[in-house]
Amino acid sequence: MRLYDKVAIVTGASSGIGKAIAQSFAKEHAYVAIVARSQKGAEAVQQITAEGGKALFVQCDVTNATAVEAMVSSVIKEYGRIDILVNNAGILRNGDVVSLQEKDWDDVIATDLKSVYLCSKYVIPIMRKNKSGSIVNVASYFGLLGGRQVAAYCAAKGGVVNLTRAMALDHSREGIRVNALCPGPVETQLLQKTFPTPESMKKVAAQIPRGQFPTLEEIASAALFLASDESKHITGIALPIDGGGSAGIKII
Ligand SMILES: NC(=O)c1ccc[n+]([C@@H]2O[C@H](COP(=O)([O-])OP(=O)(O)OC[C@H]3O[C@@H](n4cnc5c(N)ncnc54)[C@H](O)[C@@H]3O)[C@@H](O)[C@H]2O)c1
Repeated sequence: MRLYDKVAIVTGASSGIGKAIAQSFAKEHAYVAIVARSQKGAEAVQQITAEGGKALFVQCDVTNATAVEAMVSSVIKEYGRIDILVNNAGILRNGDVVSLQEKDWDDVIATDLKSVYLCSKYVIPIMRKNKSGSIVNVASYFGLLGGRQVAAYCAAKGGVVNLTRAMALDHSREGIRVNALCPGPVETQLLQKTFPTPESMKKVAAQIPRGQFPTLEEIASAALFLASDESKHITGIALPIDGGGSAGIKII
């Protein structure tokens, strides 16, 4: 019951990491708003309610300010408050600055970075009234390190990490904590688009110092820690959860 009666919004919660976070929050007795673009969000809600949890599907494109404002209003109408915001929605487009199409650059920056600004813009005034709140921004270890052929993604996730620090300072006296989670490679549809075969996925796993991918539950448990009161004195951090991937350079 680590989130007993808390109200949480999780964006991009119809699949992958976001869905696992939403499920783990519901297991800890939170009311969870599953924010997603497609009806897959409704399926995620059905799964949670079938297991006895409480969840609500809110259809929303997190790059659209009007849609985000309406999404936050829907959550308030249903649950009356917001305690936790997980800015998880994200996309990845491969390429360096020369090969990347301008549309791909714009889509990545809008989905991975601008959405954090938009969702926080409409949620923070509500958290402020309660003088408490926890925001978890799902960045990436590509927000801490550079990488090849992921220029827009590195720019967006690096922006999320430093935006997290700025927001933490701006809102700490209002009782609002803001932290970033920086996963290394995780086996989800996002990674499978770049590494579509089992062989290529095995090569990625071999690059992780721990030698294996994390489970979705292992990522969700870090989000749960940052969302819950167990991390009450922690704000403005970027927590790597990457099996040692950002610990240093491997020569041997
Ligand atoms: N998988 C990895 O290796 C990895 C590593 C580090 C960080 N991340 C980050 O984790 C987060 C979740 O990714 P994932 O790996 O679970 O992949 P995923 O593709 O399963 O999840 C991303 C979700 O975001 C949703 N989304 C995308 N654009 C949206 C929009 N405009 N409005 C609303 N929802 C939108 C997608 O529909 C999807 O459900 C992303 O921010 C990603 O960058 C992933």
